[in-house]
Amino acid sequence: MAGMYRSRVSGIGSYLPEKILSNKDLEKMVETNDQWIVERTGIERRHIASEDQATSDLCVIAAKRALEDANLKVEDIDMILVGTVTGDHQMPSTACFVQAKLGAKNIMAVDLNAACSGFLYGVSIADQFIRTGMYKNILVIGAEVLSRYMNYKDRETCILFGDGAGAWVMSRAAEGQTNVIESSHLRADGTLADLLILPAGGSKIPQSHEAIDKGLNFMTMKGRDIFKNAVRTMASCCQEALEHNKVAPEQVDWIVPHQANKRIIEAVADQFKFPMERVIVYLQETGNTSAASIPLAFDWAVKNGKIKRGQTILLTAFGAGLTSGSILLRY
Ligand SMILES: CC(C)(COP(=O)(O)OP(=O)(O)OC[C@H]1O[C@@H](n2cnc3c(N)ncnc32)[C@H](O)[C@@H]1OP(=O)(O)O)[C@@H](O)C(=O)NCCC(=O)NCCS
Repeated sequence: MAGMYRSRVSGIGSYLPEKILSNKDLEKMVETNDQWIVERTGIERRHIASEDQATSDLCVIAAKRALEDANLKVEDIDMILVGTVTGDHQMPSTACFVQAKLGAKNIMAVDLNAACSGFLYGVSIADQFIRTGMYKNILVIGAEVLSRYMNYKDRETCILFGDGAGAWVMSRAAEGQTNVIESSHLRADGTLADLLILPAGGSKIPQSHEAIDKGLNFMTMKGRDIFKNAVRTMASCCQEALEHNKVAPEQVDWIVPHQANKRIIEAVADQFKFPMERVIVYLQETGNTSAASIPLAFDWAVKNGKIKRGQTILLTAFGAGLTSGSILLRY
């Protein structure tokens, strides 16, 4: 019957490429230093995909780990959603390559371009498909190879970003099960789209020698404006989730925020007087991995005994678009 089902997280997995780019490595590439990066961002290193790895390759490793954790087979999956802004190609969707590499047959597979909020958008969409009874098991992946779009001469951006992938299997919850996705609140404000943009390669500025000469093939950002908007919007999305579910901050076991900058995370937590001991921070290891950031941090927190089954978790993200959102769930 339509609307009678709820979704739960049945399996999680993630993958970080082996190659590491440390702050010390960056010191040799741009005018920066380890101390500045750590103090201003909290980031110590990021992982970089090897030359022969495309985004779908990262997805597949994370997805297989999530399927194993869920104790499900590829044949059980009804849909694949991939949040990414750095897909294998301009078209088709990276999700289609993931589908082929996993050997999934005759199921829907599509990418979501919502930047750093891409994973939350994916979880929310999967939740809706499961709620209506349309599908039972959905693979949601967030994955990026941002290193291919970095200008390693621009110290304001290249120090921030890294590569990686995280995946969840979301499944229909059994009747009466309380470990479910409680709510999702997603937003976009396109009036601020220029604050974080990869200008060339689309229909507005097609790829050309001129575009490359101007550096329009790299991600560009207005860091300070992004910072302010990130704090404001994530705090507001979290507030919306708490009010909607009538949950007090004390009842939330963990916040898993988008891993962009430790100071942004601290400022958001401070708005709720939420102690940092219950905030997952993993960016020291990953940098900002955009759509991969939340499932990577979540997986790390579970594997390290922080997040446990049954706990109440608040996810919140913010990214290019500008997109943002929050999801409250019982894991
Ligand atoms: C980019 C960011 C780290 C810069 O930190 P900040 O504290 O705002 O620093 P400012 O931009 O005010 O710059 C301070 C100084 O450091 C310098 N600086 C910038 N990057 C530097 C670097 N990598 N190394 C050393 N110095 C740097 C600046 O040039 C500036 O110098 P000045 O005072 O002589 O002009 C920060 O604004 C940020 O994280 N913004 C959000 C970005 C983000 O998360 N984007 C993705 C969203 S999903």
